[in-house]
Amino acid sequence: MANQFDLDGAIRHFSELITEQQARAERIRNAEKPLDYTALSPLVIGVCGGDGIGPTITAESRRVLEFLLADEVAAGKIVFKNVDGLTIENRIRVGKAIPDEVLEELKTCHVILKGPTTTPQAGDGRPNIESANVAMRKALDLYANVRPVKVPSQGIDWTFFRENTEGSYAVGSRGYSPSDDLSVDFVVTTTGGTERIARLAFEYARANGKQRVAIVTKANVIKTTDGKFLNLCQKIAKDYPEIEVSDWYIDIMTAKLVDEKRRRDFQVLILPNLYGDILTDEAAEFQGGVGTAGSANIGSRYAMFEAIHGSAPRMVEEGRAIYADPCSMMRACVMLLNHIKRFDAAARLERALDRCMFTEKRITITGRSDGATTEEFADYVMENL
Ligand code: IPM
Ligand code: MG
Repeated sequence: MANQFDLDGAIRHFSELITEQQARAERIRNAEKPLDYTALSPLVIGVCGGDGIGPTITAESRRVLEFLLADEVAAGKIVFKNVDGLTIENRIRVGKAIPDEVLEELKTCHVILKGPTTTPQAGDGRPNIESANVAMRKALDLYANVRPVKVPSQGIDWTFFRENTEGSYAVGSRGYSPSDDLSVDFVVTTTGGTERIARLAFEYARANGKQRVAIVTKANVIKTTDGKFLNLCQKIAKDYPEIEVSDWYIDIMTAKLVDEKRRRDFQVLILPNLYGDILTDEAAEFQGGVGTAGSANIGSRYAMFEAIHGSAPRMVEEGRAIYADPCSMMRACVMLLNHIKRFDAAARLERALDRCMFTEKRITITGRSDGATTEEFADYVMENL
C-alpha cells in the first residue's frame, strides 16, 4: 500500500513559514538604533548559568568580571543580575526553548553572559524543543555571531562573522515530512539579514586594520540562498575598496584552514549560519579546542556572550564539572567588555588570558583531576590581571 502523502499539509506549513519570514525580512529594515553603552546608568549585565558545566564556568567568569568592574559596580553604574530558570528541566516543563518569564527578565538586561544550554536532539526521547541559544539569538535578534580564534605562535588571527538568525537555522526545528518517504527543511536568506552581517564584518575589518575579508558559501550548489548571500556581501564590499575580498566555497575553506602555509592569510571571514557553526569549531581546535573559544552574539538592542561549545553533560555525569575549562567564557567576557566599551578592562583580561593560555601556562586545565579546577584557573587569571 502506498503510504500517505500529505501535500496540503505541506503547502499550509510552507505558506505559514514563508509569510512569517517575509514579515521578519521587512522588520529587519526598521531595526532599532544601537545602544550607547557608555551613557547607560546602570548598565545591566544579566547572567544565566545554563546547564551541565555552564553554571561552573559562568560563575567563575562572573567572578573575574566583577573583580574587573568592581569600582563601577560599587558606584552603582553597573549592575549584575541573575537570570535563573534557563535550564533544560524548566524548558521541558513549560515546553518552550525559553520560558516566558526568563525571556522577560533577559529583556530587562543590556548585555547577557550565558552558560551553555543542553539541546534535545531528535530521537533522544525528550520533547523537540528548539535550542535555547538559537531561540535567544532569534528572540533578541542577535544577528551577528562574532568568533575570534588566534594562535599567535602559528600566525593565526581569525575573526569569524557568522550570520546568526537565518540560513538553515531560521526555521531549523520546523521542517516538514509530508510522507514517510520525504522530509524537507528550509534555508532562509534575507536582504537585510545579509547586509547587516556583511556591514558589521567590513566595519570591523576597517576599524581594526584588517586587509582581507573572505566570504564563504556554497553558492555553486545552494544557488538561491547562498547565491544571494554571496552577491550581497560582494555588493557591500564595494564600500570598502581598501579591503581585499575573496570568495570561497565552504568545502575548500575547511581544507585551507588546515593548510599551514595558506591559513595565516585569512583575517576576517563572513559566513551563513550553518557553515559558520561548523567552521568555528574546526578553527577553535587549533587554538586548543572549543573549550578555549568565546563568542559574541550582537544585535542592535541586545548582545549575548557565550562559549562556542555545549554543556558537556558527560563531564557532569563523570563528576568532572569542577575541572571544566572556563577560557571560552572568559574570552566571551573580553568581548563583552569591549562591547560595553570598557576597553581597558577588556585589554587587561585578554592579556591575562593570553599569558595563562599561551605563554606562561603555569597552571593548566585538562578537564580531569590531573589538571587545575575551574576555580583555581580563575584565581590564576585574576593574579595576572
Ligand atoms: C554554537 C552551538 C549551537 C549552534 C548549538 C548548541 C545549537 O553549536 O553556538 O555553535 O549550532 O549554533
Ligand atoms: Mg557550534
